Amino acid sequence: MTEPLRVLVHGASGRMGRALLRLAGERDDLVVVAAAGRSPSADAPDLARTPAAPYLAAADLTDAPPFQVAIDFSLPAGFDAVLGLCQQRGVALVSGTTGLQPAQHAALDRAAADIPVLWSANFSLGIAILSELVERAAAALRGWDCDIVEAHHTRKLDAPSGTALALGALAEQGGAQPRYASVRAGDIVGEHLVQFATAGERIELVHRATDRDIFARGALHAAASLAGRPAGAYRLRDLF
Ligand SMILES: NC(=O)c1ccc[n+]([C@@H]2O[C@H](COP(=O)([O-])OP(=O)(O)OC[C@H]3O[C@@H](n4cnc5c(N)ncnc54)[C@H](OP(=O)(O)O)[C@@H]3O)[C@@H](O)[C@H]2O)c1
Repeated sequence: MTEPLRVLVHGASGRMGRALLRLAGERDDLVVVAAAGRSPSADAPDLARTPAAPYLAAADLTDAPPFQVAIDFSLPAGFDAVLGLCQQRGVALVSGTTGLQPAQHAALDRAAADIPVLWSANFSLGIAILSELVERAAAALRGWDCDIVEAHHTRKLDAPSGTALALGALAEQGGAQPRYASVRAGDIVGEHLVQFATAGERIELVHRATDRDIFARGALHAAASLAGRPAGAYRLRDLF
């Protein structure tokens, strides 16, 4: 039997991190060997259930035991440290952290010369399909207005969402000039509307996420597929 893949979860005390730890525990092809966050967590024992999977505060990240892939759903302030650790250890990085600065995306691109990396603003299969529809619509509907409206829970920090910006970039490639609007309300997990409008008609493409487990499942699948590949910048569609 092959050994389970050794995974570090970064941002483990957050909404996504907790979903990752729970869903990782349901798989036998990977094992979480360390969970990490910004501060020492009051309920760390819940997060790392055995002494073999310690909970690490940001200051202790470099003490992480050996791992083969890191899954990072933290915040931009935590991203550089986990990227640096993966480069130092020569292991893969899957990141879903949004709101990264251009310099952080550039650092990720540089790291791809040495390690396999995958960053995606959205790990759901539905958004992967929506992306293809947006590309097609934008290329076919030259001159139409393009508006992207995204809605998320009130604790989301970045706006527009990383997914809205990624959809907008695809629309731009097709010739559209997207405008953005953001709604922050209640506990909305994530909704994206891409609208193309012209005189007399309108197309609305909508994706609604109702459970953040879809993102965590996609990230775990990506991690299992990415570890052990040659260095490079991978896209989700390369791995699904
Ligand atoms: N790509 C996707 O599919 C997708 C889906 C959902 C969310 N996201 C993104 O994923 C990220 C996390 O979302 P969330 O809702 O889980 O956020 P959250 O609940 O606020 O959790 C953030 C996590 O990051 C940790 N963190 C913050 N600053 C850090 C630092 N400087 N060093 C190390 N760790 C740090 C926090 O640790 P403490 O608890 O110790 O502060 C916590 O564990 C966000 O960027 C969000 O936009 C992406």
